[in-house]
Amino acid sequence: MAVAAIVLAAGQGTRMNSDLPKVLHHIGAAPLLHHALSAAQSLDPDRMIVVTGHGADAVTKSALAFDDRITVVIQSEQLGTAHAVATATPQLADFTGDAFVLYGDTPFIRAETLAAMQKARAKHAVVVLGFHAADPGRYGRLIATDDTLQSIVEFKDATPEQRAITLCNSGVICADATTLASLVADVTNDNASGEYYLTDIVALARARGLAAGVVLCDESETLGINTRAELAAAEATFQSRTRFEAMENGVTLTAPDTVFFALGTHIGRDATIGPNVIFGPGVTVESGAEIKAFCHLEGCHISRGATVGPFARLRPGAELAEDVHVGNFVEIKNAILDEGVKIGHLTYIGDADVGEHTNIGAGTVTCNYDGVMKHRTTIGKRAFIGSDTMLVAPVTIGDDAMTGSGSVVTEDVPPGALALGRAKQINKPGLAIRILERLRAIKAAKKGS
Ligand code: UD1
Ligand code: CA
Repeated sequence: MAVAAIVLAAGQGTRMNSDLPKVLHHIGAAPLLHHALSAAQSLDPDRMIVVTGHGADAVTKSALAFDDRITVVIQSEQLGTAHAVATATPQLADFTGDAFVLYGDTPFIRAETLAAMQKARAKHAVVVLGFHAADPGRYGRLIATDDTLQSIVEFKDATPEQRAITLCNSGVICADATTLASLVADVTNDNASGEYYLTDIVALARARGLAAGVVLCDESETLGINTRAELAAAEATFQSRTRFEAMENGVTLTAPDTVFFALGTHIGRDATIGPNVIFGPGVTVESGAEIKAFCHLEGCHISRGATVGPFARLRPGAELAEDVHVGNFVEIKNAILDEGVKIGHLTYIGDADVGEHTNIGAGTVTCNYDGVMKHRTTIGKRAFIGSDTMLVAPVTIGDDAMTGSGSVVTEDVPPGALALGRAKQINKPGLAIRILERLRAIKAAKKGS
């Protein structure tokens, strides 16, 4: 069965007190919208539609950055959730299959939960995701018997008896796309808020003789974000959930509470992550690699058997092949390190290719920026870069070549050659002692005067 996902993201999020649209605030180094879209993606949808309103330009850009096949529609006035869905359904006029309604500010819906809703569609024309709320507050209440749903009543419109119900509406709904479109078209705004409620489609469906049902999920999945405090709480929830999942997948976290993941961080089985490691977007760590304490990683790929850190920084485009060793106070950016490369200490490698089994000494810097443009450094296989070498790019070091410690390398080094780019040393016998004697005499004379 084909699936479409409609993600509502038109609201301003007034309580965030922000110039940024709510769905563009981050948890796990990604906008809330991307979390919702990732959940939608777990359905392998044929269509994804995002409904924007407030901050439409920025939200559109963010949606397309996630997946450029997403259709973005604009709901210029936020007249209610049914109105938002009705803004999207014309895009599904030619679509046959189920449509899900999800929310840009609700990041924690699990793939398994959406799959359960999809399954429940065999029994019910409209499937609503519900949960038992510890504190039902102002959530819509589900009027249901077992898994059969009669209606949803919004808090504002509910009787005291209905408000006593703790079975609540998450807002997530699944129905046949054509049915959904015709149901939302019938919704009116005759209620306490004067809004077009998506929740009204349940009663409308039943009036047409269609069955409606409930699928339950844990309350934690339906957590929406309305304030900065809720954003911070959601970050904590995201982190603890992701840490747990990583460990379930066979990753060792020595001090889980100190490791911070991003949405989409991928870590292979039997990898080890030490304390205080931070993952930015786009990191893959393959099986058996080790990230030691206090590393910061983003946009990089670490292959099997590689070791990184402690105190290393891998920036976007850092590609570490198998058995690479990157040690302390090393920064790597936009650089490909082939198998077995060793960069142990205090080094910056940016815009570079480093051949297999090359060793880079402490204090080496690829001088990649001339103040206007970036230039590339190419180092061959089995090369030995002496400590404190400045590699002034663009420059190429051949296979099996060496550079002397402290060299400033401005010209290409042929394979097998030794490059020495430093002043020649001269020794002056006894001069150190004579200088010190003279300085001590000057100091003594000053004290006496
Ligand atoms: C909605 C449900 C309520 C449920 C609750 C769960 C309705 C009528 N009520 O209430 O039963 O318990 O969610 O959190 O659906 N949006 C738009 N365009 C609009 C209106 C809303 O895009 O015109 C988006 C908002 O940005 C938000 C989401 O839809 O992300 C939910 O809207 P909101 O007004 O917050 O609904 P609730 O009052 O929370
Ligand atoms: Ca809400």
